[in-house]
Amino acid sequence: MALLPILRYPDPRLHTVARPVAAVDERVRRLVADLLETMYAADGVGLAATQVDVHERVIVMDTSEPRDRPLVLINPEIVARSAEMAVNEEGCLSVPQIYDRVERHARVTVRALDREGRPFELEAEGLTAVCVQHEMDHLLGKVFVEYLSHLKRDRIRTKMLKKTRDEQRGR
Ligand code: NI
Repeated sequence: MALLPILRYPDPRLHTVARPVAAVDERVRRLVADLLETMYAADGVGLAATQVDVHERVIVMDTSEPRDRPLVLINPEIVARSAEMAVNEEGCLSVPQIYDRVERHARVTVRALDREGRPFELEAEGLTAVCVQHEMDHLLGKVFVEYLSHLKRDRIRTKMLKKTRDEQRGR
């Protein structure tokens, strides 16, 4: 297993649309293992392959407490959405230390393949529903800050560029 570097907003590669996984083979299982290791090391609740510059429809999540219930979704598709919406504070490993409120469906039903390639259905609510919608957005090239106002997004973009510059200078 390996820790993978996470792309940081506004890296244009975060806007790549992921393609479906053709076959859940050893290569994909290795990617899943690396995504999980990277997510846990960064103390995140979810990570999409897009965020490590792999543009295939794979996401990993763990919204359990203690964090010991990894969830792997390959080729996820939302098959049902609640009419009811909910606003929650979100963050993202690609936009470190930024948190803001986003409105999403309160409940979603998702169909996906697990890491053995077996189909399953997940009925998600609460944090799991937030997380699955957030991660599936990544697969479509969308970062949560795109739900915020232009003003907020511009501020975040500037902050992230400065942070990256400072880190590169070793500060
Ligand atoms: Ni994210």
